[in-house]
Amino acid sequence: MVLIRFPKPWQVESQPITSETTYWHRRRFLKNMIGFGLGATTFPSISCSRSGDDIDPALKKTLSQRTLPGVKRSAIYTGNDLRVTPESETSRYNNFYEFGGTKNIWQAAQSLPTDSWKVEVTGLVNRSRTYDLDDLTTKFPLEERIYRFRCVEAWAMVVPWLGFPMRSLIKDVDPKSNAKFVRFTTFYDPQVCPGPGGWTDTASLPWPYTESLRIDEMAHDLAFFAVGIYGHLLPKQHGAPLRMVIPWKYGFKGAKSIVKIEFMNFQPPTFWNTLAPNEYGFEANVNPDVPHPRWSQAEERLLGTGVHPAVWERQPTLLYNGYSEVAPLYRS
Ligand code: MTE
Repeated sequence: MVLIRFPKPWQVESQPITSETTYWHRRRFLKNMIGFGLGATTFPSISCSRSGDDIDPALKKTLSQRTLPGVKRSAIYTGNDLRVTPESETSRYNNFYEFGGTKNIWQAAQSLPTDSWKVEVTGLVNRSRTYDLDDLTTKFPLEERIYRFRCVEAWAMVVPWLGFPMRSLIKDVDPKSNAKFVRFTTFYDPQVCPGPGGWTDTASLPWPYTESLRIDEMAHDLAFFAVGIYGHLLPKQHGAPLRMVIPWKYGFKGAKSIVKIEFMNFQPPTFWNTLAPNEYGFEANVNPDVPHPRWSQAEERLLGTGVHPAVWERQPTLLYNGYSEVAPLYRS
């Protein structure tokens, strides 16, 4: 069973008070944007291209030409037993609500301004840091890790990420002993981010998109910061230049385009958990036996294995998405 930690009353107080109108806008947003049942019938159909060479030229332009040579392959997370999902599928089937409410945001996301990017690391640490783009690709030894990825909407993929374990950054900033949680804040500028559109009142959503981990989760060897994918720098639609990859949790925990990392002594409110705490728990570990209130999590559909999500191949969901080595983190 997933252990859901309910916020203490003093944590709830720190959340903004929600007006009734805002609440209904949010309900409509949730129904329209992340509802797998509805989404399965409304997702645009996708073509069947499989190899990098087949990528449509407009899409190819969005993929960084900058490769990351010399990055070693992880000896542990080799993906030898996994079928990597083609980039032609993963790079145009995305969730990035800052840039739209459908999966088809790859073009809209190109307005994300990544030049002069800075990531501030602050809060309960002995060494606050600000990393620039160069630091992100040179300061910590990079490696390639092939991980399963499982979205809470019950679709899944297998992705070769390039990046570094989160524990390398923890070591660099040296958290204080009272740091218990870490908040990851992502880029948001209403001038650049149109939001999900449709019925949603974008202004009512709890921007910026934030996520959080317990510090012991962040220190687990599997917890990863990605700066690249498929051998090159991250494209904007995947959350350039820095995103979280937590393979045993649902994909919404993997905040994209991070600008700030804060070590804190309390569990902070996060984007999805603020919108619908009963649907998007803080812990959000992949678990086939805990259904989402609106759909089962027992099975998952493999991205791009058919002409339409409704006919994608299905397979059983694995506890912790197959990463059972994290189980000791959740033994009380
Ligand atoms: N990060 C930000 N900033 N905004 C988002 O909307 N969506 C999350 C997560 N990170 C999201 C985000 C969700 S719901 C998923 S499933 C993954 O990103 C999707 O990652 P991908 O589009 O790179 O596959």
